[in-house]
Amino acid sequence: MQLTDARTYLMRMSTQFLTLSLTSPEQTTRTARDLGVVLRNGDTILLTGDVGAGKTHFARSLIQSLLTTPEDVPSPTFTLVQTYETPQGQIWHADLYRLSSSIEVEELGLTDAFDTSICLVEWPDRLGNLRPADALDLSFETTGDDTRRLTARWTDAKWSEKLDVLRK
Ligand SMILES: Nc1ncnc2c1ncn2[C@@H]1O[C@H](COP(=O)(O)OP(=O)(O)O)[C@@H](O)[C@H]1O
Ligand SMILES: [Mg+2]
Repeated sequence: MQLTDARTYLMRMSTQFLTLSLTSPEQTTRTARDLGVVLRNGDTILLTGDVGAGKTHFARSLIQSLLTTPEDVPSPTFTLVQTYETPQGQIWHADLYRLSSSIEVEELGLTDAFDTSICLVEWPDRLGNLRPADALDLSFETTGDDTRRLTARWTDAKWSEKLDVLRK
């Protein structure tokens, strides 16, 4: 392998990350909206963090920014999955906290949706080995009443370009 090929390979395979400080719920909403613009079918975002960290707030803001007709975006705590039609494609919003087994992930149609739709998944640890390797991982940490630290991690090079919208 040539040195430049090796470097490109390492860049493609190694974990990249970006940390943002979200100083208010409104700033989280703006960040979600900015990221929403670059999402396409086949993009999966995994949202991790404790209860109240802002996973649903982020997903709701992102979905609402892409809807052409305003709609409620309830937390999928009990339904596990809610879907929305947008000009950029169908969005699946999942909350897997109450999932009893990873078999259910396939029954819900999520594994297919990872390939064909835009997916936003809360509690993705429940996916086990069904977790898509090319997903963007967003981790939320509570740093104060109204402040959160957001860390984005990814290995698939497509996200390096998409996340330019958040580097400003
Ligand atoms: N900077 C912030 N970003 C996101 N949510 C925030 C922020 N500051 C305060 N909050 C509040 O924290 C709560 C997050 O709740 P939610 O999004 O349901 O959390 P989760 O889905 O992670 O359990 C909301 O009440 C939201 O208004
Ligand atoms: Mg939630």
